[in-house]
Amino acid sequence: MSRASLEKRPEEVQAMFDDVAPRYDLVNDILSMGQTRLWRKVVVDAVGAAPGQRVLDLAAGTGTSSEPYADAGIEVVACDFSLGMLGVGKRRRPDIDFVAGDATNLPFADDSFDATTISFGLRNVGDPQLALAEMLRVTKPGGRLVVCEFSHPTFAPWRTVYTEYLMRALPPIARKVASNPAAYVYLAESIRAWPNQDGLAGWIADAGWEGCRYRNLSGGIVAVHRATKPLDGEASTAAARRAKASDYLRHRASRPAR
Ligand SMILES: C[S@@+](CC[C@H](N)C(=O)[O-])C[C@H]1O[C@@H](n2cnc3c(N)ncnc32)[C@H](O)[C@@H]1O
Repeated sequence: MSRASLEKRPEEVQAMFDDVAPRYDLVNDILSMGQTRLWRKVVVDAVGAAPGQRVLDLAAGTGTSSEPYADAGIEVVACDFSLGMLGVGKRRRPDIDFVAGDATNLPFADDSFDATTISFGLRNVGDPQLALAEMLRVTKPGGRLVVCEFSHPTFAPWRTVYTEYLMRALPPIARKVASNPAAYVYLAESIRAWPNQDGLAGWIADAGWEGCRYRNLSGGIVAVHRATKPLDGEASTAAARRAKASDYLRHRASRPAR
């Protein structure tokens, strides 16, 4: 199944997350069998932020991925385009700065964050390569990128077991516990259609990040990619990044309407 065949319009993705927002965190814990807590800890360690630094948690949803930074006294901005997800987050954690914004057109100035991270969000963005370019734009030179996303198990037998779980077991469980089970069928299909670890590393490098490395978690069910924004040539690359972003926008505008 190709990613293009699964593509949803941004308004559809927004509506889907508005729908799942009330039970999002509970359903996540059930479907991942508690593994999300372990994965989130690895992400926080990879971001390696210290008090005094500013972190952007993009596609932050209800802010569960932003909480560890706030708890450690680090300034975190939780940005997402689903007002439903942001509303649930703000009610639970009024102390966190929740900002409505689209990952492909971020409402932040160039070079404004020490680290930018996205957990289980990039796969849902309509144009993930444009989002990676936007994340580069808003990160300070020398700043860090950490992407946590579902990926592809590396050991073939484990991949078979996992694919069976995704395609056969997950949808019936989702029907019992989720407010919008169709969203979890989409989840399973979008995970299968997502690039593998090296494919995503290639996208990250293409967007202008350097030194991309990744770590597989739970045998590759999840991968955490990290990279750094180049220190040199910031002035010239700022213009290049803007040109790159408008290339993507032009390319997107020229695609046939779905
Ligand atoms: C699976 S949730 C992840 C939430 C959170 N990061 C976590 O780890 O629990 C994915 C989020 O991506 C957001 N999202 C998808 N496309 C987006 C876009 N273009 N701009 C901003 N947020 C987006 C959705 O609204 C949703 O809240």
